[in-house]
Amino acid sequence: MQVVVPERETKNATSSTLNTPTDKKIVYHTKDLNLWYGEDQALKNINLPIYENEVTAIIGPSGCGKSTYIKTLNRMVELVPSVRVSGEILYRDKDILSKSYKVEELRTNVGMVFQKPNPFPKSIYDNIAYGPRIHGIRNKKVLDEIVEKSLRGAAIWDEVKDRLNENAYGLSGGQQQRLCIARCLAIEPDVILMDEPTSALDPISTLKVEELVQKLKKDYSIVIVTHNMQQAARISDRTAFFLSGEVVEYTETDKLFSNPSDKRTEDYITGRFG
Ligand SMILES: Nc1ncnc2c1ncn2[C@@H]1O[C@H](COP(=O)(O)OP(=O)(O)OP(=O)(O)O)[C@@H](O)[C@H]1O
Ligand SMILES: [Mg+2]
Repeated sequence: MQVVVPERETKNATSSTLNTPTDKKIVYHTKDLNLWYGEDQALKNINLPIYENEVTAIIGPSGCGKSTYIKTLNRMVELVPSVRVSGEILYRDKDILSKSYKVEELRTNVGMVFQKPNPFPKSIYDNIAYGPRIHGIRNKKVLDEIVEKSLRGAAIWDEVKDRLNENAYGLSGGQQQRLCIARCLAIEPDVILMDEPTSALDPISTLKVEELVQKLKKDYSIVIVTHNMQQAARISDRTAFFLSGEVVEYTETDKLFSNPSDKRTEDYITGRFG
């Protein structure tokens, strides 16, 4: 990944629209972030603080850069060979884009949940024990405890406790997604990034995951990309509206949905485009 000096040619959310609270700790602070895939700029001068123990929703029309942004937060985006970035992303005050930053620190602190549940083709137990084993935990009793705690944390323990040795592929889509959340919890992350985690789920499973997200924010900081504006309104504390790679507006969710300050936000949330 090549880091370049940014050309500042875009105008987007300013500090006045960020509405920064002073009493909250910032987990991730994105500063003047630009990202290109080859010649195409996908993120433009993003400035976005993500606060501790909050659910932060990212909304915006298809192709506006939501997935790119959260994949930048855990440096997965650099797997794309043509990617160039400029700017800073501070995670707990360290610039994760700097050459000296050890990406392993992110792997142990930041969990990711994808649109399509992606359990490993292993038993339910081994899906959860996988991360802790990589971190050197071998003791069966300790692993048993982590597995139970993580599955309970993801509100799926009661449904799977009698079938821990069965293959995870035998679970329903909604159960698989909660299993994937449990797999995140097993590494005791600091932040959980979710990219449309409920878009492949039925309404009841969606509700379970939404309830879970709200419960988890007590212990974790969560960033969730969603196309579902009701979902953003229901479960998030703060919402960022992305459009064509820019953050148009970023503020408390209640305010963004009841009294947006930008006409483009209003048009989007009222369904006039996107
Ligand atoms: N690997 C890639 N190589 C080249 N361009 C890409 C790549 N991934 C994404 N893009 C482009 O970057 C832009 C932002 O894509 P991104 O996937 O971040 O959008 P999104 O907001 O997540 O959209 P959706 O709501 O459809 O998931 C799009 O124009 C897309 O075509
Ligand atoms: Mg996406």
